[in-house]
Amino acid sequence: MSGWDPRPAIALKRSGSRVPAEDIERIVLAYARGEVADGPMAAFLMACVLRGMDAGETDAMTRAFIASGASVTLGDVGRPVVDKHSTGGVSDAVSLVFAPLVAALGLACVKVSGRALGHTGGTIDKLEAIPGFRVDLDIEQMRRQVERVGCVITSQTPELVPADGAVYALRDATGTVESVPLIAASVMAKKLAVASDVILLDVKAGSGAFMRDAAAAAQLADACLAIARAARRRAGAAITDMSQPLGTAIGNALEVAEAIEVLHGRRDGRLRDLAVWLAARALTSAVGIGPDEAAAAASSALADGSALARFAAWVEAQGGPALVIDDPAGILPRAAVRLPILAAASGFVSTVDTATVGLVAQGLGAGRAHRGDTVDPSVGIVLTAKIGELVERGEPIGTVHARDAGSAEIAGNAIAASLQVAAEPVAAPPLVYGWSEEG
Ligand code: URA
Repeated sequence: MSGWDPRPAIALKRSGSRVPAEDIERIVLAYARGEVADGPMAAFLMACVLRGMDAGETDAMTRAFIASGASVTLGDVGRPVVDKHSTGGVSDAVSLVFAPLVAALGLACVKVSGRALGHTGGTIDKLEAIPGFRVDLDIEQMRRQVERVGCVITSQTPELVPADGAVYALRDATGTVESVPLIAASVMAKKLAVASDVILLDVKAGSGAFMRDAAAAAQLADACLAIARAARRRAGAAITDMSQPLGTAIGNALEVAEAIEVLHGRRDGRLRDLAVWLAARALTSAVGIGPDEAAAAASSALADGSALARFAAWVEAQGGPALVIDDPAGILPRAAVRLPILAAASGFVSTVDTATVGLVAQGLGAGRAHRGDTVDPSVGIVLTAKIGELVERGEPIGTVHARDAGSAEIAGNAIAASLQVAAEPVAAPPLVYGWSEEG
């Protein structure tokens, strides 16, 4: 361990005082180097959750995360570079559609993504469900791929914001995820470390998000945009609905398969609509075309197969089989057991306890209960019922994909119980609650 003692900084935060920026940088960097142990770091993070952090402290944590690694400067790749990030949700495979979609629209998408966190899924775990897909690219490989294919998503390697990778995993294991400043610093470090022209944030609100309502999500959006402002970067934040799973699939291979369906233009619904909405925003911010024209261009790139072709090229460039677009069922891992989920009551779906849905998928093996657990890419849930839809007791509302019959039955009952129904019709929630921009 280092000669530096983190306890005064922990005590300062515990008492609600401001921690000097240099101490925040020190504890983060020392933790990343293994010189501060998990215990003191977890205590510090818990104090941050309970006492909050001001804009200066949040900024210091963001800068420390970035300073722990190298920055991705891609140079001129011949197209505007867009970086998009979700604050975390359930059945949120938007990035898998968005990246090839904006590449097909003439932009470049460069993303450093995370793994599943708490009840939420992680883009890196999803991509790893594709056999052979590599998520440990170095900066030179990223640069070459963006020039060639137009999109790249990689994980935090030792080069890229490694301190965030370490802290993110510790937060997942210590109940210190739900904090506006900690999430803002974690998200924005990954965004600022990449030299993009536009940063697009998808801040989720609802029962499946870390921010349970649009007002709390707006606070997170503001915190992220304040970090972008301090760094003089162009950024926009959408507040989008996570009061139910975004798509129908929850689980890594299942979500890849659903994203492929959207890219084929064969799947309508909220996952498709949000990917198109965000791609249109990216186009408007990056090249200044009007929102209607941008939305039409994004829809056409899905309809004409150009986004799908980009996806195939992207998968191949990162080591996976391009053929996955034609035969996802044959190429993606499949769970041994499938069990229908039956509605527990009749009526209009009024609420979905979306965090529970995410935790049930995690319990099946789609996420990690403990740090270091391995994820089973094949398992998960398909839940087709959406808020506002009429369901009949005993009728199928989805399918559990599990390793064994016992866990499938438990999961199916838990999912059925996570839906509430009402006798009167219920309106579907909006997809997007708000949008704000910086820079
Ligand atoms: N996504 C991130 O990148 N970090 C968080 O802390 C939460 C969601």
